[in-house]
Amino acid sequence: MNIGCLHLKNGVFLAPMAGITDLPFRMVARSFGCGLAFTEMISATGLVRGSGKTLRYLVSSPEDRPLGVQLFGCDPETLAAAAGIAAERGADLLDVNMGCPVKKVAKSGSGASLMRDPERAAAVLRAVRKASTLPLTVKIRAGWTTRQVNAVEIGQIAQECGVDAVILHPRTADQGFGGRSDWRLIATLKGRLRIPVVGSGDIRCPEDAARMFRETGCDGIMVGRGTLGNPWLIGNVLSHLSGTGISEPSIAEREEIIRRHLMLAIDFYGEKIGTRDFRKHLLWYTKGLKGGAQFRQAAGRISDRDSAWKALQDYFQQIGEPPIACSGPGVCGSGTETEGGDSRRAEVTA
Ligand SMILES: Cc1cc2nc3c(=O)[nH]c(=O)nc-3n(C[C@H](O)[C@H](O)[C@H](O)COP(=O)(O)O)c2cc1C
Repeated sequence: MNIGCLHLKNGVFLAPMAGITDLPFRMVARSFGCGLAFTEMISATGLVRGSGKTLRYLVSSPEDRPLGVQLFGCDPETLAAAAGIAAERGADLLDVNMGCPVKKVAKSGSGASLMRDPERAAAVLRAVRKASTLPLTVKIRAGWTTRQVNAVEIGQIAQECGVDAVILHPRTADQGFGGRSDWRLIATLKGRLRIPVVGSGDIRCPEDAARMFRETGCDGIMVGRGTLGNPWLIGNVLSHLSGTGISEPSIAEREEIIRRHLMLAIDFYGEKIGTRDFRKHLLWYTKGLKGGAQFRQAAGRISDRDSAWKALQDYFQQIGEPPIACSGPGVCGSGTETEGGDSRRAEVTA
């Protein structure tokens, strides 16, 4: 599919997730073939102020392509300036967050709050459109509350403002993640817009992905929570859509993926923060696996590369398959300790 002038190899995307879709996780997801991955949401104000912590969210690599950079804010000029910074630092596509319902974001008029103020939403999108020629998307919710469902109105405004695609997570902001996302709204939006529509919400298995395409006619899909501890879901979605068989990774393959992800995290954040932050991924990766509960207790004590490596080795030996051949800790070089690492730990935000 194409978004503006950007040609994408497929329409299966990794959803932006605050505290999760950092460079290491994006690299793992990309190894399973996703057509586009997004940064987590980045404060436009933080970028414009030049905050080191905020700028770090833009750190990418040549393999981390194509990259969607998601910005949040509510001031058109600030968002326009932030768009310029993101473009200079290598974004392939810009996205404006109009879906985040979290109080500290929404109370400032950003995120899903913009859907309550269509004029401001339009001003923001016009300003970003004017500031950059990069492909531009907007990620929206169904509306603010079930009595204020206005995704179609906001989608049409976006189209008029020159936005190249609309991404819809069809729950209202006040729904949070409760209930099910209403895919009928994705179909309605698709029927009303000329630009591509991307659906997001509740894709947990390859069949869900096929069903979203079929039931809504959307041009692309986004997978979020389904990839937690299960990034190979993206590969299985792609295989299923192309009619080839799907397969779950063997225990040895899982171990290899986890170790690779861990090493990427240590390279990116440094040993201390990288391992500490990785604990949440370990919990997700071992959910439902034999001996997982016991491992998760041990995972809570992981504090450095060696203890992480050892815990993984013990666990995978114990659950039965021979450990994979690997070069051991330290193979990925020494990471730089970055106290400015992510403080928004796996926060549910949009
Ligand atoms: C932990 C977490 C963080 C999220 N952070 C963002 C974000 O930064 N920006 C955004 O637009 N959506 C964010 N979302 C919403 C997802 O992108 C996605 O739209 C939503 O989770 C529904 O898709 P899913 O059912 O596949 O998870 C987040 C979701 C979760 C669970």
